[in-house]
Amino acid sequence: MRKLEIAPSVLSLNYAKFNEQCEILNQSEANWLHFDVMDGHFVPNLTFGPDLLKGFKQTCRQIMDVHLMVEEPTLFAKRFIEAGADIITFHYEVFNETSKMIDFIKELHDLGVKAGISMKPNTRVEKLDELLPYLDLVLIMSVEPGFGGQSFMADMLKKVTHLRQIIDKKKLDCVIEIDGGINAETAKLAVESGVDVLVAGSYVFNGNIIENIASLKCLK
Ligand code: DX5
Ligand code: ZN
Repeated sequence: MRKLEIAPSVLSLNYAKFNEQCEILNQSEANWLHFDVMDGHFVPNLTFGPDLLKGFKQTCRQIMDVHLMVEEPTLFAKRFIEAGADIITFHYEVFNETSKMIDFIKELHDLGVKAGISMKPNTRVEKLDELLPYLDLVLIMSVEPGFGGQSFMADMLKKVTHLRQIIDKKKLDCVIEIDGGINAETAKLAVESGVDVLVAGSYVFNGNIIENIASLKCLK
């Protein structure tokens, strides 16, 4: 049976209570932390740079899952890796050639991290088929990237089903992560469709963090 991982998105963390919330995360069942990097160009919002990731790396025990919503991931990946990233996920939409994506994935592996690719809701999932053997992770966006607290787009589950079939059939070592609008109800649908990693921001941090994470973790 596949293992389910929960990746709280620190976009929704209360930064006035940074240490306290990190301590709670350390006691929770979440083994990953999702770190949303936005550059104000690829998405209409600005968030964190590598220096903030360093603070998380020193404070939290989790795997650092860095989601680069930036136009130029090749310029920034190394700095996030030096700051403590364990997984770097970039967006399909910022590359115009498959060969360049494969080169970047190899570069990430040479730098000692796992490589993931993400796609916006309007990008067709079939475009990823030939890249799957190179990837450690695919991140399906179930909202338009840019902001936390949006509603889950149930149509995106078809993408998960498609990927699950190929990954299982070809016995590939690639996990499927979903990001956006995840709560106890939508998580159940995502897990049933074949998701391995649930990213959740507002659902986790709004209320009791440990209980909210546990309510997602018990789904599988
Ligand atoms: C959106 C980000 C998400 C966001 C999810 O662009 O990639 O990781 O934090 O937030 P919720 O879980 O609130 O939809
Ligand atoms: Zn994200």
